[in-house]
Amino acid sequence: MIFYFSGCGNSRFVAATLAKALDDTLVFIPEAAREGRYDYTLADGARLGFVFPVYSWAPPRLVLDFVKRMRLATPPSYVYFACTCGDQCGQTEKIFRKALGEKGWELSSCFSVQMPETYIGMPGFKLDTEVNAQRKIDTARTLLDKNALRLQQRESFSEMVVGGFAWFKSHLINSSFNKYATDDRKYRATDACIHCGKCVETCPLQNITLEDGRPKWNGHCTMCMACYHYCPVNAIQYGKATEGKGQYQFRGNC
Ligand SMILES: Cc1cc2nc3c(=O)[nH]c(=O)nc-3n(C[C@H](O)[C@H](O)[C@H](O)COP(=O)(O)O)c2cc1C
Repeated sequence: MIFYFSGCGNSRFVAATLAKALDDTLVFIPEAAREGRYDYTLADGARLGFVFPVYSWAPPRLVLDFVKRMRLATPPSYVYFACTCGDQCGQTEKIFRKALGEKGWELSSCFSVQMPETYIGMPGFKLDTEVNAQRKIDTARTLLDKNALRLQQRESFSEMVVGGFAWFKSHLINSSFNKYATDDRKYRATDACIHCGKCVETCPLQNITLEDGRPKWNGHCTMCMACYHYCPVNAIQYGKATEGKGQYQFRGNC
């Protein structure tokens, strides 16, 4: 069973590719959490997998919250995660390993997959060029083929791009990010908005409603930026930080 979260499709691609290679089933974490589905029974000897994007050098809070609430009928014998990131993961492995350890579950394997950048919510952050984005996706496909085999064989491995100042980024910056940079009051729809409701449809947390045809963000945002990237007319902005930065969504198949 593979539990996954994705805002803009990168991690969905990774989860779907692994599910196909391992003949496994997918569970979308926000949907399961919304429906209160925290109890699972794994088939005998089945692998337990997690796939998620790295947010501010750590697993997204909603993924950690879900793990905390999950209950398994029997302890898992093989647990792995794959995280997607624009470039570096910091102490994502350490944080996730600890969350699993608190349940008495042991991490067997993990790896990071560099995918096109999706975060542009602050000055200085920008998307990859099209050429770079495609190069990352091509490299990721090769990495996934290789690592799916290793997971199939229940290898124990850790292949993470950690980067420098990992503790500082994954703890100090991450806690400020969660406190201050996930504030959805900075989102707005410009006059270009065509009232199509695509933002409502694509928000994985169902945090957006339409009021008089215009999107309203309702205060429980994880900052995946799906609303911004999927808007068909690029009418959504986050303060001034996103202006003129273009959009990205994963469009390939697995
Ligand atoms: C809020 C946010 C924070 C991010 N933080 C990091 C980070 O710390 N390091 C990194 O390499 N990429 C970071 N990224 C980039 C994403 O991890 C990456 O683009 C990921 O593949 C997006 O996955 P998704 O398309 O499944 O949502 C961040 C993206 C977002 C939206």
